[in-house]
Amino acid sequence: MTREERPKGGDERPISPYHAPGFYADALARGRHRDIVGGRWEETGLIQMQLLLHAGLEPQHHFLDIGAGSLRLGCRLVPYLQPNHYWATDLSGALLQRGYEVELADKTRLSPDHLIEDANFDFPGLPDHITHAMVFAVFTHLPLPMLAHGLAQVHARFPALDWLMFTVFIAPDDRFASPVRQPDGVVTHPDRAPWHHRMSDVLATARAAGFAPTPLPTELPRGQWLIQAHPLR
Ligand SMILES: C[S@@+](CC[C@H](N)C(=O)[O-])C[C@H]1O[C@@H](n2cnc3c(N)ncnc32)[C@H](O)[C@@H]1O
Repeated sequence: MTREERPKGGDERPISPYHAPGFYADALARGRHRDIVGGRWEETGLIQMQLLLHAGLEPQHHFLDIGAGSLRLGCRLVPYLQPNHYWATDLSGALLQRGYEVELADKTRLSPDHLIEDANFDFPGLPDHITHAMVFAVFTHLPLPMLAHGLAQVHARFPALDWLMFTVFIAPDDRFASPVRQPDGVVTHPDRAPWHHRMSDVLATARAAGFAPTPLPTELPRGQWLIQAHPLR
């Protein structure tokens, strides 16, 4: 998907605040690397760890954190996984780098070349042997065609994948067209970030990308839904 083909938010807004010119440079210059990913640092990192452990992630697995930001999950997961079994991508390489410098306690467990800037789910330089992946609070900032593209790329690129987890905001079918206040307060939209989708559309999109998706009964920060998706081969 080229920059021109990518869907824009309504009225030619950037797709998300992350796509606004200068966003990362400004926020990083002000030392806001935790705020960029939404704050709630301890709580959200811990929840992600618990989800992964509950789902059976083990230290020898090869894990990809897509849209990993400043390593809110990575700073917990890197010590758990065998050295260099963690990989991270993000729209901003500078944000990944700041997380590595400030948040990763033992840098001997992760080579910095495992942090990869990637704006379009191309996964450059990543190994084929990724076994598990998380896309937490990333598709919540993107329209459905980018979710479709991201999932299709994951499916095509990682033949050893056991499962992927991702989060989305969901709107009830009868309120889809309007702004929706999610369970813990954030207001989502059908045509701009933070984006909501119909559950039926998300599941159909995941199936079309080659996955068997299952919504999991968890309560996540900001009212996100968690979907676990197993690739169909
Ligand atoms: C709310 S933060 C979540 C970060 C991380 N997953 C976590 O839970 O701490 C959203 C992240 O998505 C990244 N992002 C936004 N659009 C992206 C895209 N198209 N590809 C990769 N990353 C993207 C942002 O830079 C940001 O780090």
